[in-house]
Amino acid sequence: MTSPDLTKTQASPASDRAGRGDPAGSGLALSLSGVGKRFGAVQALSDISMEVAAGEVVALVGDNGAGKSTLVKIIAGVYQPDAGEIRLDGKPVSIAGPRGAQNLGIATVFQDLALCDNLDVVANLFLGRERRQLGVLDEVSMEQEAWRLLRRLSAKIPSVRIPIAALSGGQRQTVAIARSLVGDPGIVILDEPTAALGVAQTAEVLALVRRLRETGLGVILVSHNMSDVLAVADRIEVLRLGRNAASFRAADVSVEQLVAAITGASERDRAERGEAPIGGTQQTKTVDAPAGETS
Ligand SMILES: Nc1ncnc2c1ncn2[C@@H]1O[C@H](COP(=O)(O)OP(=O)(O)OP(=O)(O)O)[C@@H](O)[C@H]1O
Ligand SMILES: [Mg+2]
Repeated sequence: MTSPDLTKTQASPASDRAGRGDPAGSGLALSLSGVGKRFGAVQALSDISMEVAAGEVVALVGDNGAGKSTLVKIIAGVYQPDAGEIRLDGKPVSIAGPRGAQNLGIATVFQDLALCDNLDVVANLFLGRERRQLGVLDEVSMEQEAWRLLRRLSAKIPSVRIPIAALSGGQRQTVAIARSLVGDPGIVILDEPTAALGVAQTAEVLALVRRLRETGLGVILVSHNMSDVLAVADRIEVLRLGRNAASFRAADVSVEQLVAAITGASERDRAERGEAPIGGTQQTKTVDAPAGETS
C-alpha cells in the first residue's frame, strides 16, 4: 500500500553532493512554458515559463494576486492549466490531481502545513501512507524512516514520538517538509515556509531549504520575504499580474531591484526613458513588463 511511486527512480536521497547551482542529478528538472489559467473573467496566469533544475532553489515572488499560488497549484496538480506545457526531465506530463503530482515526484508543502496537532511526528509523516506488515502498522519501520528523513534534513526534533502540539513553529515546518520527502520526490514546493516564524526559526527553515538543495532536489520557494529569498535562492522568478515580469540570479540582484520588478514601477519609468531594464546584462531575462498599460 505504501509502494511509494513508480517514477521515483531519479530521486535517490542518498547523495550529499551539489552546492549552489550544481545539480546532483538525483532530482527532477521541471520546465513550464506558455502556461495559462483563467478563473471566469479573471486571467490569473498568462504565458508563464519557468524552470527548476535538480539541486536548484527557485524563488517565486510577486505581489498579492500576482498568480503565485495559482502557479503552485498547477504544478501540484490541484488545478489544470488551460494552456501551455509542463515537462519533467524533458518529457511532457499532465499532472492529474495532487496524487498524480506525487506519483511524478512533485511534493508540495502548503502554507497551512496540514499537520494533526494531537498525533506524533511519525504518525504525521506517514498520515495516509502508513506502512503495514501483514495488516499491522509497521511502527518500527516508520520510526526508522522518520529518523532517516529528519537526519537528511539535519533537523532538530527532540523526539519523533511527541505530538505536533508540543513543537515550535519552526519544528512544525520541519516536520511538514520531512513529510513531503516521504515519497522521495524530485521537486519540492514550499509555500511561504517562513511566514509565521521568528528570526531563529526562519534561519532554521532556510537551512532546511539549503539541505534540500544539497541532496539534489529542485525547490520552488514562494515567499514575500525578500531577504529570505536572497539568502537561499539561486534564481528568482518575479510574477506580476499573472505574467513573468523578470527573472534574476539571486547573486546579481538587490532587494530594491526585486521590489521594483514586483511593483513594476521602475520598469515603467525606465521604459518611458528608453533605458535598459534593471539588472542589465546580469539579468537572465526580462519579459516584457506591461509598460504603462497598467494603472
Ligand atoms: N479559485 C479562484 N477563483 C477565482 N479567481 C481566483 C481563484 N484563485 C485565484 N484567483 C485569482 O487569480 C489571481 C491570482 O491569484 P493567486 O492566489 O494565484 O495570487 P498570489 O500571487 O498567490 O497572491 P497572494 O500573494 O495574495 O497569495 C487573483 O486575481 C485571484 O483573485
Ligand atoms: Mg497566494
